[in-house]
Amino acid sequence: MCNKIIIRLGIFVLICCKFWFLVLDEIKTVPPSKKKRVRISLRLKDATFENTFTNKHSSEYKDLRNKVEDALKDILNSKLGKGKYSIVDVTFSNGSLIIMYTIEMLTNVKTSEITDTIMEQNGTFAGYELDKAYVKVTDKGKVQYYGQFRVPDLIYLTDYATETSTKYQTLAGEVKTKLEGVYRNDTKVGMKLIAVSNITFTKGSVIVDFMVWVEDVITVKTMTDIFKHLDSLKIGGKPVDLKSFRLSGVYQKKK
Ligand SMILES: *[C@@H]1O[C@H](CO)[C@@H](O)[C@H](O)[C@H]1NC(C)=O
Ligand SMILES: *[C@@H]1O[C@H](CO)[C@@H](O)[C@H](O)[C@H]1NC(C)=O
Ligand SMILES: *[C@@H]1O[C@H](CO)[C@@H](O)[C@H](O)[C@H]1NC(C)=O
Ligand SMILES: *[C@@H]1O[C@H](CO)[C@@H](O)[C@H](O)[C@H]1NC(C)=O
Repeated sequence: MCNKIIIRLGIFVLICCKFWFLVLDEIKTVPPSKKKRVRISLRLKDATFENTFTNKHSSEYKDLRNKVEDALKDILNSKLGKGKYSIVDVTFSNGSLIIMYTIEMLTNVKTSEITDTIMEQNGTFAGYELDKAYVKVTDKGKVQYYGQFRVPDLIYLTDYATETSTKYQTLAGEVKTKLEGVYRNDTKVGMKLIAVSNITFTKGSVIVDFMVWVEDVITVKTMTDIFKHLDSLKIGGKPVDLKSFRLSGVYQKKK
């Protein structure tokens, strides 16, 4: 009889403790040194992607960024509270229009709660139709960046379009090696490179498109700065036009 009571009491205390820890976990705030980075990916069905959206200095980028930042702020202010987060990066990519936000949270809110709040917007976002099946909010995972740059003095060869040709493989091999050198693991910026892949060449003189996969959050600005701070990147012996560099990022779709 007495044993039973003690066991029941023990279970009760255990349950209470567990509950209390859960509550603590929910309400504790993250110290500024431990800002939690979260990425939010949305797809707008009826918005049309324009190449100018990848150029952060263009007025088209700025206009759209203002519009979608305001829409996200409306949602986050209600969920996280004003001043409890900052939007550090916004990028756009094609399909119809994919937006990727990187935010820094000063408060602990589950990513699923942010997802739920976005879903409660009745399928609209910034006046566009939201693809509800695509909404992704995560604080971990891989990001794939699509990059492009131009090598003005390099002469385009038709073989560059054929991935099995020796000419393609030599040049693509060089691009891969050099980009792996550019985006090498670096604890200072938090870079953990997974791979450089999907290298293609198009005419004009030679335009190089590539994909770079990284672990965890690196902002597009950092990815761009790392590239632009190189002073002498050469491909095929010819200098790369650093000003031609473009990059946008999207999450890896969960398999
Ligand atoms: C976006 O993707 C669509 C479908 O693949 C394509 O038709 C369109 O040209 C792309 N837009 C740009 C600006 O690349
Ligand atoms: C979504 O629709 C419901 C029901 O019509 C409404 O109560 C709610 O306010 C709407 N939410 C938004 C964010 O418009
Ligand atoms: C770079 O970081 C990734 C992810 O942590 C790891 O898998 C890879 O082995 C690292 N590469 C090197 C050369 O250290
Ligand atoms: C990258 O290349 C792989 C293998 O060639 C292919 O399966 C994949 O669809 C490509 N990804 C993109 C985004 O182009």
